[in-house]
Amino acid sequence: MQKANHQSKKAERRWPLRLVAMGLIGGASLLFLLLGKNASAPFLCGAWASSRSSATSLQLEAVLQYATSTVVPQQSLGEISVTFGVLRSLSPTNFLVFGLGRDSLMWASLNPHGRTLFLEEDPKWVHTVLKDAPALRAHTVPYRTQLSQADELMHHFRSEPDCSPHKSFLRGNDKCRLALNMLDNEVYDTEWDLIMIDAPRGYFPEAPGRMAAIYSAAVMARNRKRTGVTHVFLHDVDRRVEQMYAEAFLCKKHLVKAEGRLWHFEIPPAANMNSDFC
Ligand SMILES: C[S@@+](CC[C@H](N)C(=O)[O-])C[C@H]1O[C@@H](n2cnc3c(N)ncnc32)[C@H](O)[C@@H]1O
Repeated sequence: MQKANHQSKKAERRWPLRLVAMGLIGGASLLFLLLGKNASAPFLCGAWASSRSSATSLQLEAVLQYATSTVVPQQSLGEISVTFGVLRSLSPTNFLVFGLGRDSLMWASLNPHGRTLFLEEDPKWVHTVLKDAPALRAHTVPYRTQLSQADELMHHFRSEPDCSPHKSFLRGNDKCRLALNMLDNEVYDTEWDLIMIDAPRGYFPEAPGRMAAIYSAAVMARNRKRTGVTHVFLHDVDRRVEQMYAEAFLCKKHLVKAEGRLWHFEIPPAANMNSDFC
């Protein structure tokens, strides 16, 4: 009898606990049901809801590719982090990347729902990269320059009126050999918030070199109509030609960060078209 009384008292004490547990399970089930029905329910305006809805198929593809590949991007973590920081604050944004590589899926994934476009010199390499990552968007660019012409092209810039910062145009600019005049209209018609210059190749005399990419990025930044600056990232700044062209067109005064072999410039729109590049 005493034992029976003791057990019934124990059971009474457990009731509130059971009620709390049932309430929690019921509440959680309801929450999951609501989430399943409508991920953008108005009361779910916190970070959890937004991160849940922002995972893109490109990001999932990137996770799979990098998890199963031994080939990693050429830029270091420190260098990548500079661009990542800007993408994190601006994305979804317009991101133009010179060069397709093992890092392409990463760049596109770090700009979910944004516009990321790659400009690549080598059509065969475009085919190879897009075979594994068909969701990437890339245009082929037939450059008109060679690295061995870098010094001569700097003289050409000074003597050719159509290269002048006062004119500052790319589309249809056939006379200025530094102007990328062969791009798709999409490139000219988009205001690029970030421009990454990690191509074309510039490590042997016959390679196109980055002279035209640097000059053209500076022109795009100058011509910006939107508010804010254009973020330009230049890789391989340990090389003479990259340094010389960056100092002439991207300007030391616009350099905001140097990390490893990467320089980050913030270039404001040219308030006055009569001003020089730097
Ligand atoms: C200096 S690489 C930049 C590569 C990129 N940042 C990366 O991490 O992979 C620039 C150019 O090299 C060429 N390239 C890069 N990887 C290549 C590969 N595995 N095979 C052939 N060409 C390649 C492409 O033309 C590309 O635009």
